[in-house]
Amino acid sequence: MRIACIGHGNVGGALAERLQRAGHDVVLAAHDGGSDSVRALVARNPGLGVATPAEAVRAADVALLATPYQANVDVLAGLAAELDGKILVDCTNPVGPGLTHGLGSRQSGTEAIQAQLPRTKVVKAFSIYGFENFRDSAYPGYGVKPVMLFCGNDASAKQVVAGLLADLGWEPLDVGGAEQALHLEHMTLLWVRMVRAGGHSPHMVWAVLRR
Ligand SMILES: NC(=O)c1ccc[n+]([C@@H]2O[C@H](COP(=O)([O-])OP(=O)(O)OC[C@H]3O[C@@H](n4cnc5c(N)ncnc54)[C@H](OP(=O)(O)O)[C@@H]3O)[C@@H](O)[C@H]2O)c1
Repeated sequence: MRIACIGHGNVGGALAERLQRAGHDVVLAAHDGGSDSVRALVARNPGLGVATPAEAVRAADVALLATPYQANVDVLAGLAAELDGKILVDCTNPVGPGLTHGLGSRQSGTEAIQAQLPRTKVVKAFSIYGFENFRDSAYPGYGVKPVMLFCGNDASAKQVVAGLLADLGWEPLDVGGAEQALHLEHMTLLWVRMVRAGGHSPHMVWAVLRR
């Protein structure tokens, strides 16, 4: 699958590397192709492509969005034509002062993106844990895979994203439509508060037990 990574820092860089190693054709949608972070990623993993954001997204089947939430509106406005009809995986989280919800819990960041780009198939995924778990998602010895909850309105887009999640070792769990994204964003805040403020290890994820 051809994947464009919009934002390639802690989250986007980790996902770009791992998806490329899993056999996907990954291109960094680089607003500054000569930046140190782009050069370092490509030096570590020469299989990664680099293109302008518009070129990368235009050629992609799936775009991953991993920019600071505050940058989303401008970044996406510049790519609206290229994202028309495409799958956009929203990895971002609106975080406000004191680790609160950045949109006051009135609307999820994902729904805001979907409203901005009504013809884009937005799926929230790769969002509920810290980047440490995107670099390495292996939790061996438990007999279950770590779970990644995801949501969105388009069933076929979610199937594609479920495949990417499985490729990186997650149990994909579809929790419903975009209206569930607010709850995922609160779940992220729970994890962030526990780990970044509460002293729990970042090497901590959720798993699903069924009977
Ligand atoms: N950090 C985590 O553990 C974590 C976990 C889950 C979700 N998230 C969410 O994922 C998103 C990214 O977090 P991160 O930790 O990966 O951030 P990060 O390391 O700061 O990386 C941000 C990336 O976005 C790019 N960027 C920044 N402003 C931009 C703009 N105006 N236009 C285009 N690209 C821009 C940066 O490029 P330059 O470096 O060239 O500026 C960089 O590649 C955030 O929304 C965050 O809430 C983070």
